Amino acid sequence: MIKVKGLTKKFGDFTAVNHISFEVNDGEIFGLLGENGAGKTTTLRMLATMLKPTEGTAEMGDFDILKEPAKVRASIGILFGGESGLYDRLTAVENITYFAELNDMDKESIKERVNYLVKAFGMEEYANRRASKLSKGMKQKVAFARAIVHNPDIMLFDEPTSGLDVSAIRGVHEFIRECKRQGKTIVLSSHSMSEVEKLCDRIGIIHKGNLVDTGTIEEFKEKYNNPNLEEIFVRLVGGKHEH
Ligand SMILES: Nc1ncnc2c1ncn2[C@@H]1O[C@H](COP(=O)(O)OP(=O)(O)OP(=O)(O)O)[C@@H](O)[C@H]1O
Ligand SMILES: [Mg+2]
Repeated sequence: MIKVKGLTKKFGDFTAVNHISFEVNDGEIFGLLGENGAGKTTTLRMLATMLKPTEGTAEMGDFDILKEPAKVRASIGILFGGESGLYDRLTAVENITYFAELNDMDKESIKERVNYLVKAFGMEEYANRRASKLSKGMKQKVAFARAIVHNPDIMLFDEPTSGLDVSAIRGVHEFIRECKRQGKTIVLSSHSMSEVEKLCDRIGIIHKGNLVDTGTIEEFKEKYNNPNLEEIFVRLVGGKHEH
């Protein structure tokens, strides 16, 4: 379970994330939906212990991000959009293996797990190709495999499908659903309404650093008396929630 408690990040005078609180139950997919600059990446970076909150904290499973950041890092898998962060000179398999070694996995389980992931993601054809020679979608699959090689209970995915083509997006969605079936707890960010509608059990709408509302998509539709999530979103982020 994830419990986010009054999480805040200021960069100088500017408040990027403003006292946000939400919870994600085990086995749930929670979607952070917001415009460019809303504070999604900043929130996820704090949860991943990559960035220190100005105020507030969060519990990731059994561990607090401020008190036990190393234990948090060991129990989460993270994937941040944009750069895949792979080592160009290592092959797909070497990239995944290297990350497993960093996570102190033993040789046998690394081998087993890497073989499983190569098959699960359909990476057989380019498993031994250098990262520099992979397409964007291929890199994204390797980055996913790497992020979860240590089989973490919690996964944080920042815009996991941005820049991918239709079939790659479907592949990523299928993968995220499979993680859910395995009981993983997942937080992802997105600006795509259709993506969160397809994947998420619950969503939080973030605007200018404020968490404007949270709930299931059905709850949003009922509460705002509108079957169209996009219209609800536009109404909620229509400039009423400045801080
Ligand atoms: N290191 C930083 N220093 C100063 N300001 C920052 C820093 N990182 C983020 N910000 C600002 O914080 C705000 C939130 O940024 P963030 O990257 O969290 O947004 P986002 O919701 O992920 O947006 P996008 O959809 O474009 O990825 C933005 O106004 C951004 O300019
Ligand atoms: Mg972002």
